[in-house]
Amino acid sequence: MLIAPSILNANNLDLKSDIQAAVTAGIRRFHIDIMDGHFVPNLSFGPQLVSDFKAQFPEIEAEIHLMSNQPEVLVPAFVKAGADLVELHYEAMTEEELNKWLDYLNEQHVKAGLVLSPDTPVTVLTKFKAKIQQVLLMTVYPGFGGQKFLPTAVSKVKQANELLAGQLPIEVDGGINAVTAKTARDAGASVIVAGSYIFKSGAIAGQVDELMEILR
Ligand code: DX5
Ligand code: ZN
Repeated sequence: MLIAPSILNANNLDLKSDIQAAVTAGIRRFHIDIMDGHFVPNLSFGPQLVSDFKAQFPEIEAEIHLMSNQPEVLVPAFVKAGADLVELHYEAMTEEELNKWLDYLNEQHVKAGLVLSPDTPVTVLTKFKAKIQQVLLMTVYPGFGGQKFLPTAVSKVKQANELLAGQLPIEVDGGINAVTAKTARDAGASVIVAGSYIFKSGAIAGQVDELMEILR
């Protein structure tokens, strides 16, 4: 099990100490939500944040959840910034573009992920499974932290695992807390994103410990 905290709801003016607290508690990957104000109605971080992060925490993985339909601008920018994994939304571009950018990530030796929003069927994974190293199934509609976990996602995790014969890690993102983390794990997810549960608590290390304990 891997826990990847989303820093979207961390304190922007205190990012370094919030990240450090999670690293000290044992976190080895962060989930960085990139929102463009177009594919989703919200704005978040840019490539500078990722290059500063990698300069400060070179051993820790930066996983980029790209919520944008401008891959030609942003995918190379995040690769250049040092992203370890870039996750592209199926809904954000044509299948031709998706193939092109997944190939680009593979050539650049950056891990590639495919993200499915709640209404996208898992069957689309079949077409892209050879080009990706991880699947991200959204458990909320993308755009904001602090939303409620959609129970319909549970059967999608199971279906995706069956379809892929368990060959790719399945990640879940949105509305994860002590209860839904266990639900997702029991359904077959092996990477868990948690944002507000970890960073809105005022006790980052304690929340990480609790999730680790639950998912042990
Ligand atoms: C939503 C983002 C999530 C979100 C998770 O669009 O992709 O990563 O920040 O936040 P919580 O855990 O608060 O739902
Ligand atoms: Zn995310």
